[in-house]
Amino acid sequence: MRMRSAGAVLRSLVCVALLVGMGAGARAETDAHFTPATKVFRLDGGNVTYAFGVNGRGELQQLYWGGRLAATDAIPKAVPMPEVASFDSSYTNTPQEYVGWGAGLFVEPALKVTFADGNRDLVLHYASHTEVANGFDVVLKDILRPIYVTLHYRMDPASGILARSATIENRGNEEVTLEQVAAAAWALPPAHYSLNYLTGRWAGEWTLNQETLKPGERVMESRRGSTGHQANPWFAIQEGKPSEEHGEVWFGALAWSGSWRITVEEDQLDAVRVTGGFNPFDFGYVLHPGQSLETPVFYGGYSANGLGGASRILHRYELAHILPHRIGTGEDAHPKPRPVIYNSWEATGFNVNEAGQIALAERAAALGVDRFVMDDGWFGQRKNDHAGLGDWYVNPQKFPHGLKPLIDKVHALGMDFGLWVEPEMVNPDSDLYRKHPNWVLNFPGRPRSEQRNQLVLNLARPDVRAYVLGFLDKLLTDNDIAFLKWDYNRNWSEPGWDQLPPNEQKKVYVEYTRSLYEILAKLKQRHPKVEIESCSGGGGRVDLGILRYADEVWPSDNTDPFDRVSQQWGFSYPYTGQIMMAWVTDSPHWLNDRSTSLTYRMLSSMEGSLGIGANITKWTPEEMATAKGLIAAYKEVQPTIVQGDLYRLISPLNGSEFAATEMVNRAKNQAVVFLYIHSTQEGRGFPRLKLEGLDPAAEYTLRSIAGKAAPQTPTMASGAWWMNHGLEMDKSFHGDFQAAAFRLDRK
Ligand code: GLA
Repeated sequence: MRMRSAGAVLRSLVCVALLVGMGAGARAETDAHFTPATKVFRLDGGNVTYAFGVNGRGELQQLYWGGRLAATDAIPKAVPMPEVASFDSSYTNTPQEYVGWGAGLFVEPALKVTFADGNRDLVLHYASHTEVANGFDVVLKDILRPIYVTLHYRMDPASGILARSATIENRGNEEVTLEQVAAAAWALPPAHYSLNYLTGRWAGEWTLNQETLKPGERVMESRRGSTGHQANPWFAIQEGKPSEEHGEVWFGALAWSGSWRITVEEDQLDAVRVTGGFNPFDFGYVLHPGQSLETPVFYGGYSANGLGGASRILHRYELAHILPHRIGTGEDAHPKPRPVIYNSWEATGFNVNEAGQIALAERAAALGVDRFVMDDGWFGQRKNDHAGLGDWYVNPQKFPHGLKPLIDKVHALGMDFGLWVEPEMVNPDSDLYRKHPNWVLNFPGRPRSEQRNQLVLNLARPDVRAYVLGFLDKLLTDNDIAFLKWDYNRNWSEPGWDQLPPNEQKKVYVEYTRSLYEILAKLKQRHPKVEIESCSGGGGRVDLGILRYADEVWPSDNTDPFDRVSQQWGFSYPYTGQIMMAWVTDSPHWLNDRSTSLTYRMLSSMEGSLGIGANITKWTPEEMATAKGLIAAYKEVQPTIVQGDLYRLISPLNGSEFAATEMVNRAKNQAVVFLYIHSTQEGRGFPRLKLEGLDPAAEYTLRSIAGKAAPQTPTMASGAWWMNHGLEMDKSFHGDFQAAAFRLDRK
């Protein structure tokens, strides 16, 4: 590894051959290749090539992002785009990798600063670069002042997913305030594109939006201090109309659990740029001399096989590179499928106690559940959501002998034990708040707005961080706990941090989230086996940042099985089914008052990582037997469902009568198919379902997992048959809220 100047003439080739099992079509190496004569950087991984170069002015200019080019193809050197009119400066038109706001830039900057003397002009030029495994670190510098930006590029050899981030460094003698800091910007040439993104609200997360990209800027963001239910930091841009299995798709996901922003901008010349990183709203990060700021990672990928292809690439990447507790190496690395859990929340609410939880645990064990999780209500003076958050001692009235008798009982029943916590919050009615009222985010002298009767502890404060880490460490040391459901039930208000000088307080947006990650990292270091679920009133904190620490997420407080079919559809665009927890709860459902059969509820939840959240002490022997049978059937095919390649066959969105998904394991020797009917209309039968992703030459046996659907097709046929002729149901598969699942096993 050498630092080199722009004038270096040595041709370099970094070729990292990884001896790992590769997916179909993937390649075993990332070529990171710099050509000094043309000053072109080129990265090749999976089926992707990404290239950028230093143009004649010294700017780092994007050259290509798309399907893999031949090794013999020489990418021409970067030439700035011309000034098209006096209103369209060349600096604005040129797709720069990381552009400073200055020199007449009218599109989104990656970096905007104010220097101590009031100067706000920043023009970044190439300074040097370093070769690193699977990529480059490229250093840019302002043309006059000692502001340095190191751009980090790491391309995954198997998927071609490119991880990009930046480090901003002040090597001057005076402070600099960073006002807008992106992790990366991605560029696409002029064409007709459609944009896919996810929005939502509490109990209504994961709404897929698909629209034609138009001139101007589409902003996806959270100003809330955390990822948020309202938008998720993921995008996918497709050339032409959205298609599941065809066409070119460029996608990205930002790994940050604090306030974030992704802008998708079609400029006046129809070129597209996607810029993402810290949300610049209310942002300000002061860099003192010698200090630096590192951005989150913005992952970007490319698929030639539509949105389905994009999801499969990202899912595999998450399994192999992001999620914790992985086993195996290289592309074969993956976490174990999640244990089937029971969670007490919908059954008991805050009203937990030893006897009640033991009664639930006994029933859960009888169903074949692997993990028993006690939800909210076990600590402090927690009778409802008005009190107790912050006081993490076991409530002596509810658990007079501590948690041990319950945990021992759960273990004796053959399950492990999990517990709900909400470490970042405090109720004003708590001992903690009475003792440390200044520990919360607040502006001194101003009101403190409560949501769900709670305030946010300022995790950026070292004393708060130490407290939170301390009580969690003690909880996990004193009790045999395998799993924490880590909740976060409100967004920020009055985000003051009065320990810092006024001009530095906005650092809270960065330092809070870093503290959260630090606490999680330390806990995992001290308790390496403990697994974590990221929950924020449902799916309010799901992103590739938290997923480095969290083994699973709670996608929504909405457990209505019909709503979940659509929510899970949206969720699956960025995220693997491995992390998508789905509980079977009671009917009629509390949110929609909808009644559904137990089989429908089970099958809706079996599409993800299965859990039970019903009041199972009330279940009839028949219901217990149905659930027990389906849990056993689920476990047989769970690895295929949650870690296989997903094919979204029939969309449940926009009032669709039908829905269907299919998962195929990597060896292509097993597939699982889920079929749902919303409401049969006009006697229509379920459409013939052409499967995907099978080996055409192999023979597969079809077997029902559940549901009253009877296939009209043979029970043994080739992959070619299932993919070309398709799976056909007889007319008995009809009605309202019907579901069926099948498995295909290679002969
Ligand atoms: C949040 C979670 C729920 C439950 C409650 C407990 O709403 O999303 O699953 O844990 O908190 O108060």
